[in-house]
Amino acid sequence: TELSHIRNFSIIAHIDHGKSTLADRLIQRTGGLTDREMSAQVLDNMDIEKERGITIKAQTVRLNYTAKNGELYELNLMDTPGHVDFAYEVSRSLAACEGALLVVDAAQGVEAQTLANVYQSIEHDHEIVPVINKIDLPAAEPEKVKAEIEEVIGLDASEAVLASAKSGIGIDEVLEAIVAKIPPPKGDRDAPLEAMLVDSWYDPYLGVVILVRVVNGVIRKGQNIKFMIGGTEHLIDRVGCMRPKIENLPEISAGEIGFITAQIKDISQTRVGDTITTVKNPAAKPLPGFKEVQPVVFCGLFPVDAADFDKLRDSISKLRLNDASFSFEMESSAALGFGFRCGFLGLLHLEIIQERLTREYDLDLITTAPSVVYKIQLTHGNGEIELHNPADMPDPTKIADIEEPWIEAVIYCPDEYLGSILKLCQDRRGIQKNLTYVAGRAQVTYEIPLNEVVFDFYDRLKSISRGYASFDYHQIGYREGDLVKMSIMVNSEPVDALSMIVHRGSAETRGRGMCERLKDLIPRHLFKIPIQAAIGGKVIARETIAAMRKDVTAKCYGGDISRKKKLLDKQKEGKKRMREYGSVSIPQEAFIAALRMG
Ligand code: GTP
Repeated sequence: TELSHIRNFSIIAHIDHGKSTLADRLIQRTGGLTDREMSAQVLDNMDIEKERGITIKAQTVRLNYTAKNGELYELNLMDTPGHVDFAYEVSRSLAACEGALLVVDAAQGVEAQTLANVYQSIEHDHEIVPVINKIDLPAAEPEKVKAEIEEVIGLDASEAVLASAKSGIGIDEVLEAIVAKIPPPKGDRDAPLEAMLVDSWYDPYLGVVILVRVVNGVIRKGQNIKFMIGGTEHLIDRVGCMRPKIENLPEISAGEIGFITAQIKDISQTRVGDTITTVKNPAAKPLPGFKEVQPVVFCGLFPVDAADFDKLRDSISKLRLNDASFSFEMESSAALGFGFRCGFLGLLHLEIIQERLTREYDLDLITTAPSVVYKIQLTHGNGEIELHNPADMPDPTKIADIEEPWIEAVIYCPDEYLGSILKLCQDRRGIQKNLTYVAGRAQVTYEIPLNEVVFDFYDRLKSISRGYASFDYHQIGYREGDLVKMSIMVNSEPVDALSMIVHRGSAETRGRGMCERLKDLIPRHLFKIPIQAAIGGKVIARETIAAMRKDVTAKCYGGDISRKKKLLDKQKEGKKRMREYGSVSIPQEAFIAALRMG
């Protein structure tokens, strides 16, 4: 297709503002699917995405649209993941486009995530077309939302398209605005091939499918290509696009978006942001913007039933086929047996993987306390280590200093919840950077250690604000912190799954809370169970679960004293034996519940 007749765009929106519904409408209107096929939302194609209402994997759809001017256009709609954990993937999808539809819910208005995405889009020099969606809602206030878009984002919203994706209102206007406002791509089809790897996923029939944006040159079947950063070479065996059904094409040329396959089995060879060129006539250098993605949150995943270990390994390997951004390695724990230490891009990513293992693979799992990656300087010039697991924390005498990752968080909320939200951030060692009011809502910026956010910050934020606060963050680097490892001992045995790295200042409160919660969560046993929190050898909090007294003398009717005494002795011995050799059974829920801060 002629460059002048191509439009590449993405849709940016806050969760639930109607991105998928609008995308479906655009596909339907341009004839990509029949009504029956439309019955299920097509862009969000994983169950969990659907239930959680989020989009994980970027997908793209090519639409053919005959505009009011009579010309036929090729519109490539790029669906971008909707969450901060996938910020880098989003940035590559945006880099593949020249413009974006900004979908804002007419009743909800602009929210934090909308902002973050818009700013990213502006950084990519996108032409942004505002679409005010859900105008069918009684609570819709399109004029107010227009004003908000102008005030908060600084975009001209006077020509914003008013739409209802649900009722099909304004769809043609959206398509016309795409053609009229979003610039066509630039590129040179006669130059050496430079194609950006936007995304990749594993398909059981096709192998690894790679989504590309061709910047210069032409990509076609039978070419020998090379990943300029990954270094591997492959033979292209298929070139195509999605409408959203797969359609084979002879080629994808400069300015276009499409997919290729090349008999690749392992997704870790296809790095998002890599540049694809030909072996015969290669580009001089890779396209700018490549970044290695690194997991930032780690936790252990253990099967509740040790017999499920193999199943867990197989399931994790299968998930990994489709997601090179999470890592795993085998781990063993005294309390939990064999499992895996897994690394994720963020908390939501962790939750998604954990939930898929539970639901799609039917596994009962224990998840240990999520931990961030600490950088530890060792004494005596022994260098620096990266700590992924609190269990591996070196002896304190060997530590010169510990650094922890910090984030900048932007929280956007109605004024009435601001007080409690500020307190929450303050309690988590947050440093307030900015507080502004925009359209009757507060926007507050905090710097917070990631470690204070990984466990239950989202949950707390949501409950404090009744779901009205939105939260967005990015990492801002490492800072030194007064951090210590807190161990939890149940019946004098350290339970490594519960140990965590905490700030010294909050260790005691956290330790006490944890012991109190464990006391309620662990059922009584035949013996007394001490629960302790300790730093180094020093106990900082303690609770005791009283023994369950089994009344073994009940059957003796008070008669024979010596027999009664014998029984009591036996019971005492039993208790002793259990205390010495026996172990305490800690229920599965206790692990997670104990980590939630009150
Ligand atoms: P993510 O994929 O999670 O980012 O969400 P999304 O932005 O794609 O939202 P989605 O399209 O899934 O829509 C969220 C909810 O809003 C769904 O229940 C839709 O049916 C509803 N919705 C979407 N568009 C409209 C609209 O124009 N009017 C009304 N009333 N509801 C809509």
